[in-house]
Amino acid sequence: MQKDISVMIVDDIEETRELIKVFLSFSNKFEVICEAGNGLEAVKNARKYNPHVILMDINMPEMDGLQAAEKISMMMPEAIIILLSVQDEKEYFKKAMNCGVRDFIAKPFDTETITNTILNAVDREQRKNKIKTTGIKEIVTESKGCEVITVFSTKGGVGKTTVAVNTAIGLAQKTGKRVAVMDLDLQFGDVGLMLDIESTRTISNIVEDISTITSDRIEEYMIEYMPGVRVITAPIKPEQADYIASNHIEKIIEMLKKNHDYLIIDTRASFDEITITALDKADQIVMVSTKDMLSLKDVKLGMNVMKSFNYSDSKIMVILNRIVGKFGISIKDVENIFEKKVNIVIPEDQKTVLISANKGIPIMIHDKKSKVCKEIQRLSEIISRNIA
Ligand SMILES: Nc1ncnc2c1ncn2[C@@H]1O[C@H](COP(=O)(O)OP(=O)(O)OP(=O)(O)O)[C@@H](O)[C@H]1O
Ligand SMILES: [Mg+2]
Repeated sequence: MQKDISVMIVDDIEETRELIKVFLSFSNKFEVICEAGNGLEAVKNARKYNPHVILMDINMPEMDGLQAAEKISMMMPEAIIILLSVQDEKEYFKKAMNCGVRDFIAKPFDTETITNTILNAVDREQRKNKIKTTGIKEIVTESKGCEVITVFSTKGGVGKTTVAVNTAIGLAQKTGKRVAVMDLDLQFGDVGLMLDIESTRTISNIVEDISTITSDRIEEYMIEYMPGVRVITAPIKPEQADYIASNHIEKIIEMLKKNHDYLIIDTRASFDEITITALDKADQIVMVSTKDMLSLKDVKLGMNVMKSFNYSDSKIMVILNRIVGKFGISIKDVENIFEKKVNIVIPEDQKTVLISANKGIPIMIHDKKSKVCKEIQRLSEIISRNIA
């Protein structure tokens, strides 16, 4: 991490700019080189001073933060633009990502949030640049103490949660190590339901206490499902998801990594800010698809997006789920479409999966003889080899 990160602060309220300057002055890594009171001024000053990082308010006179971000990122694609927003402006985030914005900080913020968000964004950018310029496939910057596995798909209903939950149990059964499961399908998460656990504590409670919580206390917010497997469930109400931001997720992942050997993250089928954080943080992405054309198309598109994120090829594993017989598209065809090896093939097994879902007992416990269980054991075996 380089020592001096030059920063431009863009906000129409002078007191806010002053407050940010005070927060940044607590660290010797930042130098505020210019300020702007509106979007137009921001565009001019960005060109003139070329800051590494631009902290940008959204609602401003003359030109708003999003328009300014779009102009600056076209002019200077390497500038790291972070939006400063109030909670209900989060719907801007998706739009903002298309305008070149890298992250956002919700108002009101504190020193730690602002500092960590900037440092993480700079770190991500540096890693991406290194990959681009050196061609190095993957640069591991974090300790290999905890393996983060993000189960993902760009198609809904293909078995992400089934795979995530059962792999967590498979890993605990196989290794006897500490496994955390986090449900990041924040609106409609099913992990709690699949494990038949009452969500007395959810990720919302962690986020409420995020500024005071420490890694040694995070266990208090988790539900112990079985020895070695602890769970963080999704919010009880879908609307509570609105209050959870990617910088919260980054912090939670870092805390979980300190006292677990594996972290399994279940996701929703979209490239939203939360999912991208889970993908960025993953050592291994388990990409789930079924074999029908619609899934294959969506998953292929998803893989292309991940390629554009510069993820190394080895970071992504492919799982085909719900495979019936041998007719139709073959595994070889799928491999040709994805231009990637299929690592695990899980058969369609309505009876086992349905009974297990209805009882709230995962397949890994309910039916160890089933082919589904055997394949998930194989997946756990492959994952466990990474930190054996
Ligand atoms: N191998 C399988 N055989 C039969 N049914 C399966 C299999 N895998 C998953 N299912 C069933 O498919 C449905 C979707 O599974 P699951 O909820 O795990 O998918 P998902 O990708 O997490 O969905 P969502 O996008 O809604 O979160 C569930 O009813 C599940 O029981
Ligand atoms: Mg799911």
